[in-house]
Amino acid sequence: MFEKENSEGKRKITLFGDEQKILEFELLNRAAIRQLELKLEILNEEFQTRYAHNPIHHVESRLKSRKSIAKKLIKKGMEPTVENAMRYINDIAGVRVVCCYIDDVYSVADMLSSQQDLELIKRKDYIQEPNYNGYRSLHLDFRIPIYLSDQKMYATAEVQLRTVAMDFWASLEHDLRYKSDKNIPRNIATEMLRCADDIALIDGKMQAIYKAIRELK
Ligand code: GTP
Ligand code: MG
Repeated sequence: MFEKENSEGKRKITLFGDEQKILEFELLNRAAIRQLELKLEILNEEFQTRYAHNPIHHVESRLKSRKSIAKKLIKKGMEPTVENAMRYINDIAGVRVVCCYIDDVYSVADMLSSQQDLELIKRKDYIQEPNYNGYRSLHLDFRIPIYLSDQKMYATAEVQLRTVAMDFWASLEHDLRYKSDKNIPRNIATEMLRCADDIALIDGKMQAIYKAIRELK
C-alpha cells in the first residue's frame, strides 16, 4: 500500500511527498548534522588546549534513509509522508558521540545543552536507567536553527552519547540482533545483560584510574 515502483519495476517502501520538499528536508537534516559535528569538534579542541584531554574519542553521523523513515512512520501507525516525518521523527539526523570516560559523556552533554542555539526537546538517560537488555547511552534530541538564503528553518537531531565501552556492547548487540532476526534467544539475552553489567563495572574502574592518574600529575 505504501510502496512505490522503482526503475527496475520492483516495489519498495519509501517516503511519499513532493520530491523538492523531501530534498529540502534532507538538506536541513544534513545541515543539522554538520552544525553538531562542528560544535563537537570545537569543544574537543578546547578541552585539548585547556586540559590536555580529549573527551571525545570519535563521532559517527548518519542521515536516516527514506526507506527507514517510511518504515518507522508505518510502525508508529502513520502514513509515510514527508510532512509526518518532519513532525514526528526526531532522529532523521543522528549523531553518535563516543567518549572516553563516563564523566566526559555528561560534560559534553551539559556543554551542548547549554548552547543557546540548541533547544533540548527530549532527554533519555539510559546510563542512569539502562534499557531492559542492558543498553546504556545518553540520548539528547535537539531542535537546531538552520539559516538558509532567505529564511530560518529548524531541524531536529538525536545525539547519542556513550563511552567507548558502551559503544562496544551496543555495536555487538545490534549485530547479534540483526543476525538472529531481531529475536535474541532468552539465554543469550541474559548473557548479554551480564556482559553489559560487567562492562559498566569496568567503565567505572577506568574512570577511577583516569582520575587517580590526573591527581598524580
Ligand atoms: P525512536 O523513535 O526510535 O527514536 O525511539 P525513542 O525516542 O523512544 O528511543 P530512543 O531515541 O531512546 O532510542 C532509539 C535509538 O537508540 C535506536 O535507534 C538505537 O540507535 C538506540 N538504541 C535504543 N535501544 C537500543 C538497544 O537496545 N541496543 C542498541 N544497540 N541500540 C539501541
Ligand atoms: Mg529517539
